[in-house]
Amino acid sequence: MTSREERSRAIRAAGWNLFSLHADDVLIDLLTDSGTGAMSRDQWAAIQHGDESYAGSPSWFVFLESVQELFPFRHVIPTHQGRAAEKILFSVIGGRGKVIPNNTHFDTTRANVEASGAEAVDLVIPEGRQPSLIHPFKGNMDVAALEALLRERGSDVPVVFVTITNNSGGGQPVSLRNLRAVREVCTRYGVPLFLDGCRFAENAWFVKTREEGQADRSIPDIVREFASLADGMTMSAKKDGLANIGGWLALNDDTWAEACRMLLILTEGFPTYGGLAGRDLEAIAQGLREVVTDDYLRYRIRSTAYLGEALDAAGVPVVRPIGGHAVYIDARAFLPHIPPLEYPGQALAVALYVEGGIRGCEIGTVMFGRHPDGSESPAAMDLVRLAIPRRTYTQSHVDYAIEVVRAVASRAGTLRGYRIVEQPAMLRHFTARFEPLG
Ligand SMILES: Cc1ncc(COP(=O)(O)O)c(C=O)c1O
Repeated sequence: MTSREERSRAIRAAGWNLFSLHADDVLIDLLTDSGTGAMSRDQWAAIQHGDESYAGSPSWFVFLESVQELFPFRHVIPTHQGRAAEKILFSVIGGRGKVIPNNTHFDTTRANVEASGAEAVDLVIPEGRQPSLIHPFKGNMDVAALEALLRERGSDVPVVFVTITNNSGGGQPVSLRNLRAVREVCTRYGVPLFLDGCRFAENAWFVKTREEGQADRSIPDIVREFASLADGMTMSAKKDGLANIGGWLALNDDTWAEACRMLLILTEGFPTYGGLAGRDLEAIAQGLREVVTDDYLRYRIRSTAYLGEALDAAGVPVVRPIGGHAVYIDARAFLPHIPPLEYPGQALAVALYVEGGIRGCEIGTVMFGRHPDGSESPAAMDLVRLAIPRRTYTQSHVDYAIEVVRAVASRAGTLRGYRIVEQPAMLRHFTARFEPLG
């Protein structure tokens, strides 16, 4: 436990950046759901089977089988986490003059596209940019906008990406129907389609419970249909792999796979372990079996909705419907007196920490407002994400978080904006230092 005074001192010392806090100074850590979950008994048991052979470890074949059971792509390339898969793929297929559409790129995805010299374009449906508007699949790609882009610049587009669920846009799902339509356009223009599959199981649960005609299908069956519509994927196993580390790149194209494996050996490791120990491969293989079960997913989606519905009932503006892995507070609506370039999301995230030791994550103008040429403009939305680590917190922890948000809401008008006093050239939200205005 920490006092308000201790937290005020800690956040000041951290340059008002929540990523720079000591985690010991955080009471309930909702910064991310990435790698922060609790592994199950069976995952810990699987770890004991880890075989650390450099090449051809039995743990690699357990991992490969588990991945291909859901995603039967020809090549599976293990990496230490999602961004390593992105870095390798975009180093091979990106580059100056290329453009890569996605429903919405997440931070590292956008940064890896841009680091290759290519342009990252977000084409989520317009409903996906309106926090309070209810729509069952707000992560859907705007198919007409995609087609217009391919018509105009098709030869510059090496791949189309779809992120399931759409993390930067509120953890919102993509429907099967939408993915089929995206596939059809990609096929017509001869462009491969890849999934950013981080939260594939949560997305499949939304398909099962919201999409017409899907209720009687099993989750693995729905996941396999998603995979069958794509030519490859990047994955962070720190999310729906239920592991603390890991990821992969999977694809069907032999030429791309060969080039990616060369980079893998250069930067991650031999192709049968990539960036991972044998024990990690075992933990992920078991996690993939657990994550597609109805009981787990029902609990997971319901417990996130519990937090979101309580905040909504308290009049706190949240992205609706509630997403899969997180509740997103609309900081622009919560703090209308703070303009986007004074970072309302940062102001709200800091206030939640000082009030009650809750650590959330700004997803807005701090994260996405700065462009490769150094210019700055407001992001599409200014959100604060309260991400729920998997199988970690109890309902009473969440009840406490609700009380803290309500307390901050009662004094919202007194919060002030921030300015950035130090920042790196890219991915600034991780290390920037801030100062309160006024
Ligand atoms: C949608 C999405 N893509 C990619 C990544 C990158 O994965 P990792 O953190 O394992 O590098 C993340 C992580 O938060 C994500 O949410």
